Amino acid sequence: MMLFMLLNMAFMSSSMSTPDSTVSITRDNIYALADSLLGRFHNISAMVPYQDMGILFSEGLALLSAASAAQVDVMLESGTAGGQSAELMARFFEGTNVKVFTIDSDLMKYESSGGLLSQTSKRLSRFQNLKFFREDSFKQIPKLIRANRGKNIGVFVDGPKRVLAMRLCGIAISESRDVKFCAIHDVSPHWSRSIATEMENWERTVLLTYHNSWRERYGHLDKEFIDESAYRKMFASNTLLDQKKHLTFGPGLGIIFGGDVIPYGKAVGDPSPQTLSISRGRGRRGKVRG
Ligand SMILES: C[S@@+](CC[C@H](N)C(=O)[O-])C[C@H]1O[C@@H](n2cnc3c(N)ncnc32)[C@H](O)[C@@H]1O
Repeated sequence: MMLFMLLNMAFMSSSMSTPDSTVSITRDNIYALADSLLGRFHNISAMVPYQDMGILFSEGLALLSAASAAQVDVMLESGTAGGQSAELMARFFEGTNVKVFTIDSDLMKYESSGGLLSQTSKRLSRFQNLKFFREDSFKQIPKLIRANRGKNIGVFVDGPKRVLAMRLCGIAISESRDVKFCAIHDVSPHWSRSIATEMENWERTVLLTYHNSWRERYGHLDKEFIDESAYRKMFASNTLLDQKKHLTFGPGLGIIFGGDVIPYGKAVGDPSPQTLSISRGRGRRGKVRG
């Protein structure tokens, strides 16, 4: 009964989500929602082809379960590239009032080297609940948070990576308590220069998908929807990771909660405000690397 109520609340229109509505990003809620959403998410996954460097489907389930637990009105994504996660979100929220804003600055040169962002923009143009910005997220995310004041906001960072991703989450969370959670991709311990230790020790961390509990329960989605040999090939020459562990644990999605649970700066592991302001400045000058 409780689950049914949670699900209903998650899918009602944004008029349900008044600024003071109670949202609950807890590990238990995310697991409970993942179990209930699994059937629907499975059907959506079957429609979304895996894109190179995209998120695993088991990670997408974690992201959308967190978004549902937070009763988001708005999802902000940094790092569109081939648009796999953007499409998963757009399809998942299609027919509701939830808006998805996805941002890519072409830092990785996917557009300049082959037109990927234009292709993605064209493919995603059919989703009326999604808007694509070609911008630096360090600039665009605070702007979008301010433009959506009073709404429940979720943030997903799939680029920049590592410490810059932590900073971008910090900037978003410190901008407003409307930001109910931030998710960071590529946090598994098998990456070189991994931020797994920082994520494990961050008092804000709610869920890490590379943990056995998540992999064992939802890893079957990746086996079903991703061609393992193509996936192996894509990462074969990647020296930034341990191949065998990568296939077992995945790139890893970490979810942290927002400033309404602990004000920003008060949680153990919060990047310091000085660091945040430095990265903001660099972002504006376009020197941030992710
Ligand atoms: C791994 S790809 C994203 C994959 C995508 N989410 C998917 O599921 O297909 C990372 C992207 O992040 C973008 N990126 C990195 N830093 C950025 C920043 N500061 N602002 C906007 N985009 C950024 C890169 O240009 C790159 O296209």
